[in-house]
Amino acid sequence: MNPGIISNPGIATVSYIIATILFILALGGLSHQETARRGNWYGIIGMAVALAATVLGFVTAQYALLVGALVVGGAIGLWAARRVQMTQMPELVAILHSLVGLAAVAVGFANFMDPGRLEHYLGVELTIHDIETYLGILIGAVTFSGSVIAFGKLSGRIGGKPLILPARHWLNLLLLLAAIAYGYLFVAQSPQGGGLVPLLIMTGVALLFGIHMVMAIGGADMPVVVSMLNSYSGWAASATGFMLDNDLLIVTGALVGSSGAILSYIMCRAMNRRFLAVIAGGFGTSEGTQVAGGEDQGEVFPIDAEETALLLDAAKEVMIIPGYGMAVAQAQHIVHELTQALRDKGVNVRFGIHPVAGRMPGHMNVLLAEAKVPYDIVFEMDEINDDFPEVDVSIVIGANDIVNPSALEEPEGPIGGMPVLECWKGKTTIVLKRSMATGYAGVQNPLFFKDNTRMLFGDAKESLDAVFKAL
Ligand code: TAP
Repeated sequence: MNPGIISNPGIATVSYIIATILFILALGGLSHQETARRGNWYGIIGMAVALAATVLGFVTAQYALLVGALVVGGAIGLWAARRVQMTQMPELVAILHSLVGLAAVAVGFANFMDPGRLEHYLGVELTIHDIETYLGILIGAVTFSGSVIAFGKLSGRIGGKPLILPARHWLNLLLLLAAIAYGYLFVAQSPQGGGLVPLLIMTGVALLFGIHMVMAIGGADMPVVVSMLNSYSGWAASATGFMLDNDLLIVTGALVGSSGAILSYIMCRAMNRRFLAVIAGGFGTSEGTQVAGGEDQGEVFPIDAEETALLLDAAKEVMIIPGYGMAVAQAQHIVHELTQALRDKGVNVRFGIHPVAGRMPGHMNVLLAEAKVPYDIVFEMDEINDDFPEVDVSIVIGANDIVNPSALEEPEGPIGGMPVLECWKGKTTIVLKRSMATGYAGVQNPLFFKDNTRMLFGDAKESLDAVFKAL
């Protein structure tokens, strides 16, 4: 590769190594709340170093175009980051994944159409280069269309119900075989200057596969899809790195790809699902045993803010269970104030966080950290699930699926088998939500009808404001 503005290639290489180390430190930092902010900074600095090293060390022409693209892209990113609500974050992440996929497809085609390709690479080298290009476009196209569908599902533009086509596994197998067959044709035709047609057909096949794969996955399994597409976007970036001979992109892509794969595994374990079963789709359907509808489950017992405050005042052990509704209501700050007030009264307040609470991994932790809730009272589900019998009051703030006993009682239901926070084993549970509407998975929640459950209806922030005042 020709040297860019910095003519010494050693400087660019060292910068790439520094950026790689910073990315690894960023991942390490992001794995704990206490170090997440620092981790973010490592990532930001690493990305700035990587960009500077690439622009100054490797780019040799078209600077005006590059600067124009950086300004336009940067402005769009800044605008999106400022405008997006916390509740829209998962959609933003999904659409950003789709861009990584699209970039891999674009780079793949640009690589293929490079007139110098057949001069630079000969024999086995050309075959390897062609396979890289083919795989890059394949992974990129699946990531692109899959992420666009995930964006649609997460933003509610596409329904959460899985699309179950007849013989869908055969269809997937057919698409896979087609991708392999066209790959063979592509590699065979490429040395003679051909190969565009099989490449285009495979791109279409991969786009269809991405759409079909995500459409077949039910609402309740979307967390796994989000982390899986995160992983795919990493592999797409890595494949782009191979196509561009860029080591940093290969390493960074592999880091994202493998951390996304680990996250998918953690999500599957948290939801008691097998990864392959999720990918094969069909969960979250209304096929299995249906949980009885709200009307059939008996009476609910409403409660008001004053009574809630009285219960909290008398409690020794309080467990707060936040869910997606806390994000919608932006109630995290009042949650923090209430926590402080109770702790000042000597109440032991803890938070129980379900791994798939909200709409993205770590969603609740981010909100609680933003509101400055102390880390040492925030616990993972596994750490506190056995403690509920000793809890006096559990406050469920805009959560639904993650506290649904039917997950344990109805193994065939849409969320069947998913471990949940077993708050009904405590003395009293107070559920804050606006109505009797179901959660993301569309399943009615028997918790609301239990004798020791009280419903505090209304927007979570307004309800908590009133409880705080009464307290
Ligand atoms: P959900 O089951 O979606 O329940 C949220 C509840 O919040 C709703 O029942 C809603 O009831 C209530 N709510 C909404 N706005 C509110 C407001 N302003 N004030 C008070 N309540 C409000 O959420 P969850 O329990 O956190 O479970 C997460 C679900 O999302 C799981 O099914 C999970 O699989 C899925 N999911 C998770 C992820 C990740 S990675 N975390 C990604 C995609 C999907 P009302 O309308 O009656 O108020």
